[in-house]
Amino acid sequence: MRLDELLGIKGDIVMAEPSYQNNLHINESLGLLRRIASDLTRFDEPVNARMIVIEDGKEAYALALYSPADDEEDCCETWMILTTALDSENQGLFEELLHTIRDHVKSDGVTTLTLEKTPFKDAIREYYSLKLMENLGKYALNPESVHNRPRVERIKELVGRLKKYSGIEIRGKVIEICCGNGMATAALHELGIEPICVDNDPYSITEGLLARTLKPERTIVADATELSRVLKGEEFDTAIGFMLGDIDNFNRPIWKQILLETMKVTKNGGNLFFTVRTEPEARFIDETVNKLAVGKVIRPDKEETLYDRWIYIGKKK
Ligand SMILES: C[S@@+](CC[C@H](N)C(=O)[O-])C[C@H]1O[C@@H](n2cnc3c(N)ncnc32)[C@H](O)[C@@H]1O
Repeated sequence: MRLDELLGIKGDIVMAEPSYQNNLHINESLGLLRRIASDLTRFDEPVNARMIVIEDGKEAYALALYSPADDEEDCCETWMILTTALDSENQGLFEELLHTIRDHVKSDGVTTLTLEKTPFKDAIREYYSLKLMENLGKYALNPESVHNRPRVERIKELVGRLKKYSGIEIRGKVIEICCGNGMATAALHELGIEPICVDNDPYSITEGLLARTLKPERTIVADATELSRVLKGEEFDTAIGFMLGDIDNFNRPIWKQILLETMKVTKNGGNLFFTVRTEPEARFIDETVNKLAVGKVIRPDKEETLYDRWIYIGKKK
C-alpha cells in the first residue's frame, strides 16, 4: 500500500533520506530535526503547524511533517517523512527531537497514528522503487530483454527437482540477494513465491521494476554487505541468490561478507539455494558457509553453458 494511503494523507510525499539504505543512518533526518527544534525553542508561543507521530505501541518510529501548498513557488502540499524504522541506534535522539518539536506545536496540529512497522517498511520500499522508476526510467536499457523464457522454465524445473530429490524447498518468507533485473526472480513469481529482493545496482533494479519482474514493495536497492542492517528484525525461511558473482580473488572478501550477512537473516533450519557460473565459485560458497550450514555443490545440467550452471544447496544448522 502506498505511503499516502497507509498514513491517510493527501499531497506529495517526500522521504527525508535520499535512498532506502540511507535510512540505516538517518543523518539527513537528524540534521533537519535539529534545525527545526532549534528554531522552535527560540520562541515561547506554540506554532500553527501539522505533524503526525507514527508509533507501534512501543516507540514513536516515524514522523510526518506538513508543508502547505505555495502558489508563488508553484509547489503543492507536501508531507516530509522521517523514520528510525531501520536505524534503532538513533531512536533515543530521534524521540528527543520529536518531543521538543511536538511540545512547540499547537496540540490540535499533532496527530498520533498507531501502525505496525511491517506495512510501513513495505510502503517505504515501494516509495523508493517508484522514485527510481521516475528518476532512472528513461535510462533503463531494454525492459523487454529481461524476459528470458528458457531460463525461467529451467529454474522452475530445477526448483521442482531439488524439492523432490534433496528436500531443499523454496518456501515461507524468502530473501533473494543480488537479484539484478529480476530475470530469475520471474521464475519464483511463476511458482507463487514472492521474495524480498536486494541488489546494489539501481539501474538493474529499475529495469526489473519496469519489466515487472520485480515488485516495488518487495525490492530494495542496498548493499548486501550490510544485509542484516537493511533487513533489521526480519528473518527468512529461505535465502536465494542466482548467478552470484563473478567471484574472483579480488572480490572474495566482499562475497564472503554478502554470504555471511545472508546467513544472519536466515532462520536456523532455513533453506539455502545459490547458483553460480563456475565450480570454483560454488566451492567458495560451500567453504564460506560450511560452519553454519550443511550443504553440497551440484551441477544439475551439463548441457547448460551460461546461467545457473553450478549450484550450492543447503540448510542452515
Ligand atoms: C551476475 S548478476 C546476477 C543477477 C541476477 N541474480 C540474475 O541471476 O539474473 C550479479 C548481481 O550481484 C549484484 N551485486 C554485486 N555486489 C553486490 C552487493 N554488494 N550488494 C548487492 N548486490 C550486489 C550485482 O549488482 C548484480 O546484479
